[in-house]
Amino acid sequence: MLKLKDASLLKTNNYINGTWHAGSAGTIDVFNPANGELITKVADASAEDTELAVEAAAAAFATWSKTTAKHRSDLMRNWFNLVLENAEDLGAIMTAEQGKPLAEAIGEIKYAASFIEYYAEECKRVMGSTIPTIAVNRRLQTYKQPVGVVGCITPWNFPAAMITRKSGPALAAGCTVVIKPDAATPLSAFALCELAHRAGIPPGVINVVAASDSQAVGLVLTQHPKIGKFTFTGSTAIGKLLMAQCASTVKKISLELGGNAPFIVFDDAHIDDAVTHCVATKFRNCGQTCVCTNRIFVQESIAEEFTAKLQTAISALKVADGFEPGAIMGPLINTRAVEKMDNFIADAKSKGVKVLLGGDRHELGQCFYQPTLLTNISDDMRLAKEEIFGPIAAVQTFKTEDEVVARANDTNYGLAAYFFTRDIGRVMRVSENLQYGIVCSNSGVFSTEVAPFGGWKQSGIGSEGGKEGIADFYVTKFHSIGGIDS
Ligand code: SIN
Repeated sequence: MLKLKDASLLKTNNYINGTWHAGSAGTIDVFNPANGELITKVADASAEDTELAVEAAAAAFATWSKTTAKHRSDLMRNWFNLVLENAEDLGAIMTAEQGKPLAEAIGEIKYAASFIEYYAEECKRVMGSTIPTIAVNRRLQTYKQPVGVVGCITPWNFPAAMITRKSGPALAAGCTVVIKPDAATPLSAFALCELAHRAGIPPGVINVVAASDSQAVGLVLTQHPKIGKFTFTGSTAIGKLLMAQCASTVKKISLELGGNAPFIVFDDAHIDDAVTHCVATKFRNCGQTCVCTNRIFVQESIAEEFTAKLQTAISALKVADGFEPGAIMGPLINTRAVEKMDNFIADAKSKGVKVLLGGDRHELGQCFYQPTLLTNISDDMRLAKEEIFGPIAAVQTFKTEDEVVARANDTNYGLAAYFFTRDIGRVMRVSENLQYGIVCSNSGVFSTEVAPFGGWKQSGIGSEGGKEGIADFYVTKFHSIGGIDS
């Protein structure tokens, strides 16, 4: 039984035009992955419900887009304050439906709130321009206008932060949104709506539809003529399908897709720091983030020392139900994710991998997996090529800088990359040569609302966060003014 200080934050209906709607497709069961218990049933939205939400968002756009940036900023500031005031309850809701440890979930709520605050401030500083004229009787200027209704599909791994990272800049710019959260984690999305409602954000500006039929709702969000922009966080495979669907109405799109992050440790690195950060970026959210370390490359001369220290650090991770004090790693999201780990391990074992730790399901429950450390990795193993999205750390070795940069870049993905070295020349060279949208040297921590987060190659289009993260929610209009007598 989920205990909250404010039980009214546990909403189970879709939020459309400022009211709570039962879904016309029935209900969805929301389970706690740590114990398999049913938390609650929530409304299951159909394509028709989603169309209703789009109509509400389109009607609200007519007035919201005409408000001042200051007005929107004030309401968003109310929302930000309410999210922080309710961080513990929101964290508990997230731990229950997603599984991440409570401290990590509360951390995500603060991260989610930071996007609301940042864009509430940023929208007051979005400017057009005056361009030197090309004729004495003309004047040239640009100004920014909100792009329209925004369709958003958000993932289960960050049930709150991916919603605010999209809706924060959208609302600040004067857009309205229709969000489809993942069916596994709708409760965090509904709770955020309840707080937006309390903050005074008008009906229709934010709408949330949870749906078991992602395809039907996805079609509405990618093809509805009243939607001006579509934004998605999730896998590259689904992103490609959604991108193709957006083509028929030439929607503006931004996509934050899969990753295959290299974590490179050179022989001059501070090894203890590298180990600490490697564990943090590999096992954050049980390995289920797009920017989690996926391939660990260690220079040959330090491989033995690094691997031994990594083994000690991984052994110390406390695997537990996310509500248990001190839990560092919770369950995977569902049993399909556990089966995926089984398959990676079976494939790697058949190709000669060495298992130093774990490599199997965890006794705590059907969604738990042991923190795993592997060596003897070969290029033909699936986990050397695919996004693992789970708690498996696989260490490979390399000889030279050129070799490791080439191997790190030998993937269709290009989201985040990490490397450790104390040579300043190498810091600059390697950061420039890695084909990734985010490069992190001598640290595994970079996520922040003030900087752009986005992928290169098949890891995405556009950026979220920072001043870049609001740009795509505007159309830059060029106004050519004639008939001016000089
Ligand atoms: C993600 O994995 O998509 C988000 C990770 C982050 O914002 O740090």
